[in-house]
Amino acid sequence: MTSRITLSVDGEPVAGNPGQSIAGVLLASGRNAWRHGPSGAPRGVFCGIGVCFDCLVTVNGQRDVRACRRTAQEGDEITTQSRAS
Ligand code: FES
Repeated sequence: MTSRITLSVDGEPVAGNPGQSIAGVLLASGRNAWRHGPSGAPRGVFCGIGVCFDCLVTVNGQRDVRACRRTAQEGDEITTQSRAS
């Protein structure tokens, strides 16, 4: 039996699998975009390998974390962000 982990995304509990990236958890939860760029265009995963910085989120108070490069941990508090905030 596989154990699950639970993150908080903007205060909402979201389940994921151990070893998944934060981006993987967000995508699996149906979120395709979680911030907006300077033009207002939605941003989520683009490259998926840590190069484009489109997937930035705040994790446990640390801004500008690449969601595609950070392994999700039980209890992580994810806050979506935009360039303006
Ligand atoms: S999707 Fe490009 S850095 Fe994360």
